[in-house]
Amino acid sequence: MRKLFGVLMVLGLFIAILAGCGARSTDSASEDGNNNGDAGSSGESEEKIVIKFSHVVAENTPKGKAAAMFEELAEEYTEGKVDVQVFPNSQLYNDDEVLAAVQQNNVQLAAPATSKVSKLFPEWQIFDLPFAFADTATVQKAMESEKIGGKLFSMLTEEDLLGLAMWDNGFKQMTLDEHALIKPEDFKGQKFRVMSSKVLEAQFDSVNANPTPMPFSEVYSALEQGVIDGQENTLSNIYSKKFHEVQSYMTLSNHGYLGYAIITNNEFWSGLPEDVRKNVEKALNETTQWVRENGERLNQENLDKIKADGTLKEIHELTDKEKQAWIDAMNPVYKEFEDEIGKDLIDAVKELRK
Ligand code: LMR
Repeated sequence: MRKLFGVLMVLGLFIAILAGCGARSTDSASEDGNNNGDAGSSGESEEKIVIKFSHVVAENTPKGKAAAMFEELAEEYTEGKVDVQVFPNSQLYNDDEVLAAVQQNNVQLAAPATSKVSKLFPEWQIFDLPFAFADTATVQKAMESEKIGGKLFSMLTEEDLLGLAMWDNGFKQMTLDEHALIKPEDFKGQKFRVMSSKVLEAQFDSVNANPTPMPFSEVYSALEQGVIDGQENTLSNIYSKKFHEVQSYMTLSNHGYLGYAIITNNEFWSGLPEDVRKNVEKALNETTQWVRENGERLNQENLDKIKADGTLKEIHELTDKEKQAWIDAMNPVYKEFEDEIGKDLIDAVKELRK
């Protein structure tokens, strides 16, 4: 009996220690994902401010690497006052859910592709217009301009959101299973996955293809099972998600840009203690600079890896003449979306080409 009592005592002590550990490790974030960190306190509390950062891509992509870098810098610069928790690969939310999750403060940071912001604000489809930007430097110029970036970022607050930065991925390329995509006619009747953007649907309609909106997390299996025939994405997304293993042809077309709006909950952000906010902003600015300088390089490295894998039958680079035929075929999309995106925004982007 005494022996049994002793065992129960030891067991009780063990459970008490475990419970204590649990209370400490979960003191800053509740089970339902709400941020219960002490964002508004004077800093005397030991609770960390949790910043949950949800995104959909792999860790070895420009966005994945940038998210990890931001986590490290933000925790370092705030001397551990914030705990950044990154959830890649749609682990927490997929494309269609994440902005609502930010609005509800269930996550504090998201980095949706600009195309996905267009669900709330159709003007953001400006980045989806085919062949709108010659290179990443022009996109960056657009985001820095008051007429384009200023206008787009300021509208986010209407929905309790706040845009903090723009991160580059790069330009999209086309892949297809059945044959090479060289002439606009080659798109005819083929089913392509698109992000949720009416402009992207119109881009494929303009060449008589069938666009199918679908979350990023479903693309690989849809390609593998033949639910869709092709897709458009950046080289880093194609490589990291192995799309090149379930497709036969890739055309280097650089026909559209893919970049990210870094978005937080407006109320959460303004409720951060000033010193914390400043240091988190410093971490974000440095990370943004890093993605700007390295996004293109990472995509190029992924092209080399796709080539080395040898799974594609052919990689075709559009000639200037072939590219012009695509531009001409897709051009009607600009007129079609003049009202929805706004003529002023479209004109401002065209102005940058001069
Ligand atoms: C996609 O859905 O194809 C992209 O938005 C994925 C991403 O975030 O780069």
